[in-house]
Amino acid sequence: MASSKNLRSLLFYIVFLSLLPLKITSTSETQAEALIRWKRTLSSSSSSSDAFLNSWSSTNIKNMCNWTGIVCNEGGTVSKITLQNSSLSGTLTEFEFSSFPNLTHLDLSNNNVGGSIPSAISNLTSIMFLDLSSNGFKDEIPSEIGKLTHLEYLDLNDNNLNGNILFRIGNLQNNLTFLDLSKNHLNGTLPESFFTNLHNLEYLNLTENSFQGPLSTGFYNLSNLKDLRLGDC
Ligand SMILES: *[C@@H]1O[C@H](CO)[C@@H](O)[C@H](O)[C@H]1NC(C)=O
Ligand SMILES: *[C@@H]1O[C@H](CO)[C@@H](O)[C@H](O)[C@H]1NC(C)=O
Ligand SMILES: *[C@@H]1O[C@H](CO)[C@@H](O)[C@H](O)[C@H]1NC(C)=O
Ligand SMILES: *[C@@H]1O[C@H](CO)[C@@H](O)[C@H](O)[C@H]1NC(C)=O
Ligand SMILES: *[C@@H]1O[C@H](CO)[C@@H](O)[C@H](O)[C@H]1NC(C)=O
Ligand SMILES: *[C@@H]1O[C@H](CO)[C@@H](O)[C@H](O)[C@H]1NC(C)=O
Ligand SMILES: *[C@@H]1O[C@H](CO)[C@@H](O)[C@H](O)[C@H]1NC(C)=O
Ligand SMILES: *[C@@H]1O[C@H](CO)[C@@H](O)[C@H](O)[C@H]1NC(C)=O
Repeated sequence: MASSKNLRSLLFYIVFLSLLPLKITSTSETQAEALIRWKRTLSSSSSSSDAFLNSWSSTNIKNMCNWTGIVCNEGGTVSKITLQNSSLSGTLTEFEFSSFPNLTHLDLSNNNVGGSIPSAISNLTSIMFLDLSSNGFKDEIPSEIGKLTHLEYLDLNDNNLNGNILFRIGNLQNNLTFLDLSKNHLNGTLPESFFTNLHNLEYLNLTENSFQGPLSTGFYNLSNLKDLRLGDC
């Protein structure tokens, strides 16, 4: 009795072990599947861009690092997503930010992506370059943007963003060198705190918004600024 019980548990163990590899999905597969799920929520406004994301397919998961717009690091996980000017329509609502902790570049500029910028964007903990310019993003810029302390380049120009974000952008630390918020509907005043930590800022473009009030003296602390556009604020 006892030995057949042992045999049975041994058999169970062997069956269990042989099934185990099926249960383990690698990080790259998780990312590929997340990208495919996001792709399914997108549409394209030009027929040519239907072909554009054809490589993003569940039959092509092993080649994720060779997909259109995808760049991987040595570890084989996604480090850059560059889909600028690709006629994509949709939102970032279904984008699974938390699957991409090593993403350093996200460029969706010049598409028709809209809706709010999700607060879950704060899960892109390695992001250095974020370009969502020339899209249809609306509502307020989520305060969580301020958690992306590695950001060096932030371009949100030419969207429909509104409200007063500037306290929150001020949370971004020393790493930010490029900030373009032009052509939105941002309002309120530029508070002193906006300038507090932006010591390395070299480019600032706030034109074509609805900001009010005098320029705070904190502005004079932007000692590295080389190019400043404030017209039409
Ligand atoms: C990547 O895709 C291109 C065409 O899209 C192909 O020529 C190339 O062989 C692919 N490379 C790998 C490593 O799969
Ligand atoms: C991704 O980042 C995590 C920490 O967030 C790190 O442990 C891991 O090694 C990185 N993977 C790759 C492939 O770079
Ligand atoms: C963007 O796409 C349009 C139409 O496909 C093209 O005319 C334009 O040159 C592209 N711009 C860039 C910067 O690639
Ligand atoms: C992703 O971001 C949201 C919003 O900031 C946060 O509540 C959530 O805990 C994050 N998820 C992970 C896995 O970090
Ligand atoms: C700036 O980014 C680097 C990595 O790119 C990071 O180690 C550092 O903590 C960031 N600085 C601040 C002030 O957050
Ligand atoms: C700023 O914009 C928001 C959203 O459009 C609006 O609710 C608010 O009243 C505006 N505030 C000012 C001071 O104009
Ligand atoms: C500042 O932004 C406006 C509106 O997006 C743009 O027309 C202008 O070229 C920008 N200035 C510079 C110096 O890039
Ligand atoms: C600007 O710099 C002066 C002197 O370095 C400092 O006392 C002041 O707190 C700074 N202001 C801001 C907003 O960072």
